[in-house]
Amino acid sequence: MQIFIDSADPGEIAALAATGLVDGATTNPSLAAKTGLSFRESLAAICACVDGPVSAEVTAVDLDGMLKEGRHLAHVADNVAVKVPLTWDGLKACRALSADGHMVNVTLCFSANQALLAAKAGATFISPFVGRLDDIGEDGMAVVRDIRQVYDNYGFQTRILAASIRGTAHVREAALAGADAATIPPAIFRELVRHPLTDKGLAQFLEDWKRSGQTIVDS
Ligand code: E4P
Repeated sequence: MQIFIDSADPGEIAALAATGLVDGATTNPSLAAKTGLSFRESLAAICACVDGPVSAEVTAVDLDGMLKEGRHLAHVADNVAVKVPLTWDGLKACRALSADGHMVNVTLCFSANQALLAAKAGATFISPFVGRLDDIGEDGMAVVRDIRQVYDNYGFQTRILAASIRGTAHVREAALAGADAATIPPAIFRELVRHPLTDKGLAQFLEDWKRSGQTIVDS
């Protein structure tokens, strides 16, 4: 499963991309507003430090506006994926932008039926919002599993990008559900490496080694 970072902060993304384990990034208008930075400048900086797709969302809600904004965003860098909402106009914009050769991420997906429409509209990515479904008492990951089955049934190439990830359990479940990618907030990405038994085991190894008085290389 690919790992994307869910953030609009170029500094934070660059630091995490230095691990060599980051396959892309996703932004949205709320994340962009939170940084207090110019989004146009941030987007270019994020695209420069991430090799894979970087999602940038339109804010227009009508087809013409989405196309205008989407084409503008797509020209910021070759790795921009234009993000459009899962509305009728968003699906039309998805079809047109995909036909132009741009990557398109259809966002705010909450059902397998919506994901089916996005795939038929030629989406590169579909973003099911797992956490927001959990928040209203539904099973967000069940939607990811349903989408996986629908796409596999019909051979759709649209990639499932599990979004609205709220903890490390969501990452594991998305991988088990067969999501192609998960977009993960920075704090949760940093948590992925941690396990108390890793820390405890390493401390024990180092203590035993020190007692042996040996070295791996001559100093
Ligand atoms: C990513 O594409 C989404 O915009 C993001 O994951 C939404 O996450 P949230 O539900 O925590 O805001």
